[in-house]
Amino acid sequence: MKHDEEKLCLGIETSCDDTALALYSSKRGLIDNLLSSQVNAHKIYNGIVPELCSREHTKNIYILFYELLEKHKIKPSDIDFLAVTIAPGLILSLLVGASFASGLSYALDIPIVPVHHIEAHIYSVFLEYNVEYPFLALVVSGGHTEIYLVKGFEHYELIGKTLDDAAGEAFDKGAVLLGLQYPGGSAIEKFLSSYENPETIDFPIPIKDDRIVFSFSGLKTFLRENKDKYPKDALVFSYQEAIVNHIIRTLQKAIKKTAVNRLVVVGGVAANKRLREKLNALDIECYIPSIKYCTDNAAMVSLVGNMRFLKGKYYKKSDLHKLNPDPSLRLEDFVRSIC
Ligand code: KG4
Ligand code: ZN
Repeated sequence: MKHDEEKLCLGIETSCDDTALALYSSKRGLIDNLLSSQVNAHKIYNGIVPELCSREHTKNIYILFYELLEKHKIKPSDIDFLAVTIAPGLILSLLVGASFASGLSYALDIPIVPVHHIEAHIYSVFLEYNVEYPFLALVVSGGHTEIYLVKGFEHYELIGKTLDDAAGEAFDKGAVLLGLQYPGGSAIEKFLSSYENPETIDFPIPIKDDRIVFSFSGLKTFLRENKDKYPKDALVFSYQEAIVNHIIRTLQKAIKKTAVNRLVVVGGVAANKRLREKLNALDIECYIPSIKYCTDNAAMVSLVGNMRFLKGKYYKKSDLHKLNPDPSLRLEDFVRSIC
């Protein structure tokens, strides 16, 4: 049952391969967070097949929507506004979420709040913690490895990014080279859970100067060229170690340069246990969401949607043509476009 003045938001996330819906109340916070994973559909291809993503979203989004309505005994007309990820991501995937939102907005005459996927990841930490500004946000996912200086809501400054692969991509591609299944990060962790103290192989150290940039492609090349010379457990362990150490070293440079000692680490790779261990050993204030909020989810989208709705930034039914899904829109450009 809805309280007085309460606004109910339906969050929608379909930017990549996870179909996710969440219900968020302006008074009570997160009510529910549903997810339909496509991992099994993509596993046989050792990676994500974009067209398959959108076909799966098209089926799964309705299944999740009916499940949410049924579970909470609500009607579509109880929803006050929608929040949907419109960038960045796979365009066909983004279009499924945006089209679903537009249909609901038109039928129910309710507004849509546009959300940027990176922004949603950054704010995923606020589902569980109240973090003070300013803070550094390390976003480490399958498509992104970036560090932002966050001075407030909608005040984001990119201070470091990857020159080539994203950290999650490095885990995924490395796992394939190592004969492990997609998705690579969790497959590598699962494999290592059966080994104690594997031998350590010295991988090359990427970016030895003080630039705040990431580069994972050299680690992958080293793995490809050396994978027949060492035992598999040593290779898997040392590859993970090399990725994690590179992330930690780059973060230390960012902390030193900005003198900001408050850090949030978000995105799928933030689920990695070894990375979490090393982050927790740093002498700084560090916030990492629970695993279910690290990987893609709609809870984070609905939380940002609620914040933006309160600022009066949304598209009404008559503005639906302005909702423009974009596969590569940068966070700073997105913020400028909705001001
Ligand atoms: O944030 P996310 O769910 O989707 C994107 O926005 O990309 O991140 C997915 C990525 C995949 O590359 C996956 O291998 C990685 O996160 N990942 C992990 C772990 N769990 C997921 N990487 C390392 N360790 C994990 N436990
Ligand atoms: Zn993501």
